[in-house]
Amino acid sequence: MLGELEKRFAPLLRQVASPVDPETISGMTANYTEALPKSLRNSTVMLNNPRSAAHRAARECGLAEFLRSPSLQAFAERVSGFALERSPGMQVICYKPGDYVGPHNDHHPEEAHLRDGYVDVQVTLTNDDVDRQYLLYESSGFFNRSVNVGIASGVSVSLLPFWHQVTPLLAKPGREATARRWLLLVSFVKR
Ligand SMILES: [Fe+2]
Repeated sequence: MLGELEKRFAPLLRQVASPVDPETISGMTANYTEALPKSLRNSTVMLNNPRSAAHRAARECGLAEFLRSPSLQAFAERVSGFALERSPGMQVICYKPGDYVGPHNDHHPEEAHLRDGYVDVQVTLTNDDVDRQYLLYESSGFFNRSVNVGIASGVSVSLLPFWHQVTPLLAKPGREATARRWLLLVSFVKR
């Protein structure tokens, strides 16, 4: 599967880079008012557009069939406890060494279908060159939980929004050139 992702999707990925704006410090006029807008760097491609090369690649290797399968939806409904709309959003994300997503909550108050929350299924597939990468998240009002997501494979189901961040991916020594964590992200709207 890792080889298939690398072969089919690496050429289609687009890097997303949103660095920290120095103005977030120099523009402050009062103590203790710091606010950090979402900052990130990773590579991604959406799979939903039927005319896109990414959609074609996902169909050809069976990935699209899996990500929008009734069984995956049933799994997400069973774990989350919500009835979910069909036709989820589908995205492939790739983390290389140093790639990360800073603190954010994924709340979309301007989108009527998302503002009351939505359900994400994340399938993570990490190659052997990765040492670790953590998901930090809020629990009971404190941003102090963490889990290593730089594992060989894993599946998670999340009810968004909530505060979380993904720490920079760390490669094993000398394996920075090839370390990759792939994330298959499926987003379901609640019915
Ligand atoms: Fe997020």
